[in-house]
Amino acid sequence: AVLALRDRPLAGTCVLVTAGPTHEAIDPVRYIANASSGKMGYAVAAEAARRGAEVCLVSGPTSLPCPAGVTRVDVVSAADMRDAVMARAPWADVAVCAAAVADYTPAAPADHKLKKAEGRLGSVELVETADILAGLAASGEVGYVVGFAAETRDLLDNARAKLTSKGVDLLVANDVSRPDSAFGSDTDHVWLVDDAGAEELDTLTKAEVAADIWDRVQADLGREGG
Ligand code: CTP
Ligand code: CA
Repeated sequence: AVLALRDRPLAGTCVLVTAGPTHEAIDPVRYIANASSGKMGYAVAAEAARRGAEVCLVSGPTSLPCPAGVTRVDVVSAADMRDAVMARAPWADVAVCAAAVADYTPAAPADHKLKKAEGRLGSVELVETADILAGLAASGEVGYVVGFAAETRDLLDNARAKLTSKGVDLLVANDVSRPDSAFGSDTDHVWLVDDAGAEELDTLTKAEVAADIWDRVQADLGREGG
């Protein structure tokens, strides 16, 4: 049993992860998206599964294969992602929201392909999406919630503000203006920010960042492996 705990420190833990971008429809053939590859969230899900957790990965559109031992739920829009996440909140012990959720969505997507001559494509009215991470943390259904922050300036100030305003336990702050931490990069340079302070990690692969995140979560939950 001791060996099993050392190898699978997250055995018996239900982990919910969001990853990837979302696509917000303008009409049936056009959408608003962003540059997220989904790699960070997939690495977080893969590492949790490796450590023995039951993992549900709610993923926006990506080209990545589902990691071994992970159950994936595919979604397209921010609204779909929110529904999928909130439906599974009562099940989850830990949630990690790594998705690059669209902040705005078209107010009234067209049900037909818009024609240039209709003159509606020059400007599209947008409305703010719901904040999935903040809603999940506020629901109180998940014992430990991790968020990410992508910033290009004032990294730690913005990260601390998000930690507080979203009510999360741990915030992974990513300076995406750095070449070694940009969207689509194979490495990341992040800080782990919580109420106790900010820990700077080295420039690491996404798999290494995922391992450091889980080491921290396990330490906070008193579930240290070997
Ligand atoms: N997030 C979310 N739902 C949204 C927007 C963001 O769940 N509608 C989550 C992301 O998954 C991430 C965290 O909130 O874990 C921070 O996302 P980020 O884009 O850095 O922050 P925002 O609060 O959206 O603020 P801004 O984009 O203006 O910096
Ligand atoms: Ca955002």
